[in-house]
Amino acid sequence: MKRVKLTITITVMVFVSLTAMSCKDSKKEQSNAHDKQLTESDELLPIMYRLMADMKQINEGVFIENYPMIDSAAYRITHHLEINPGQMQIIKKNLGEDIQEFVRIDMVVHDRAAAISKAAQQNKMSEILSQYNILQQSCVNCHNQFRSRLRNKLQ
Ligand code: HEC
Repeated sequence: MKRVKLTITITVMVFVSLTAMSCKDSKKEQSNAHDKQLTESDELLPIMYRLMADMKQINEGVFIENYPMIDSAAYRITHHLEINPGQMQIIKKNLGEDIQEFVRIDMVVHDRAAAISKAAQQNKMSEILSQYNILQQSCVNCHNQFRSRLRNKLQ
């Protein structure tokens, strides 16, 4: 009789703690899924630092297999603010015709980030990784071509 009671008590305890754990998990996922807050700044450098933070977040999401985390970070990259018209003017003046290449690479960044969001919503890890790779190459591609040409010009 005593044994039966003990078994029941243990079963109840395990059940309660499992329920509590799964509640906590779903709360965590929900807050990540809604964390699609964008930066307020429309200046190039703050936008860049935010892009970097979101790239790190995607990376972290990959390792801990948190798909909502990957989705929302990729969302923030896809929807990053446009560089303000004043700075855009300076960039155009400095790059001349090459502005087309600058804009093209930015489009690749947007498209790849959107593809990562889509893959994250479908839990497709290998697709996320290959898109992430192209995305990162695009960051570096733009830096290689244009960073030194624009250094100290945008203040
Ligand atoms: C279309 C061009 C372009 C793309 C695409 C781009 N960047 Fe940049 N990035 C720049 C330029 C130009 C600078 C330098 C700005 C300056 O020095 O004032 C810069 C600077 C930075 C910096 C600051 C580095 C430093 O030396 O202080 C970081 C961080 C950064 N980018 C991250 C990223 C990440 C992450 C991505 C991809 C998700 C990315 N960038 C994509 C053009 C680009």
